[in-house]
Amino acid sequence: MFNLFKKNTAEKAVMPFNTDIHCHIVPGVDDGSPDAVTSAEIVERLGAMGVRRIIASPHVTQDTFENTPEVLDSALAELHTEIEKRGIEVEVSRSCEYRLDEFFQSQFKAGNITPYPGNYLLVENSFFSEVWNLETVLFDLKVKGYKPVLAHPERYMYYDRARYDKLHGVGTLFQVNMLSLAGFYGPAQKKNALYLLEKGYVDFLGTDIHNHRHVDAIEAYLKSRDYAKIAPRLTVGNDSLIR
Ligand SMILES: [Fe+2]
Repeated sequence: MFNLFKKNTAEKAVMPFNTDIHCHIVPGVDDGSPDAVTSAEIVERLGAMGVRRIIASPHVTQDTFENTPEVLDSALAELHTEIEKRGIEVEVSRSCEYRLDEFFQSQFKAGNITPYPGNYLLVENSFFSEVWNLETVLFDLKVKGYKPVLAHPERYMYYDRARYDKLHGVGTLFQVNMLSLAGFYGPAQKKNALYLLEKGYVDFLGTDIHNHRHVDAIEAYLKSRDYAKIAPRLTVGNDSLIR
């Protein structure tokens, strides 16, 4: 019999992409996963949601996380060992999430930058204010052959819609967090994320997972009626990033 009260929710959480490009699972290098065991558990859970490849994005931020390629690669090697030990079939590599500050500029000059495949660079503002010369920095990166992707623009509470229109209009790519769509950070961030989606400004999606609590939130969201409504509109470039 036709059931009017049938739940419109998914039994299984399935991510809208196979490649996660924003994830803090390089162990012990930032405010994300503290150790290789936790990271491998998170990778395994993402694998169960259909993720086949993770390009991790450890923070590179002046004063707090002044990570160099050597530090990041040795931490990543520890994670690879743990993943192999557990037989997890998810490919894990790394780029970075670069805060546009003086440390970034110095690392850039020293050639210590690891872009994503296709020369994409994941960059972020601080949560208090936009970097004062953002447009010039983005322009300079483009001139040097990089494709800057602004991480989670929906989380910058000092941004308004005119700023989104302007930045995207001049060719800045946007990466929106699944956690924002899930409402994890609050209603304002969710509203902004939905605005960006409605305008066609969501070029990439990412999880921005730092811990198991984040995985729980995304898992629940992917099974929700709320997610089912927008899922058909989530067409992004994540899986086209080929080395
Ligand atoms: Fe992040």
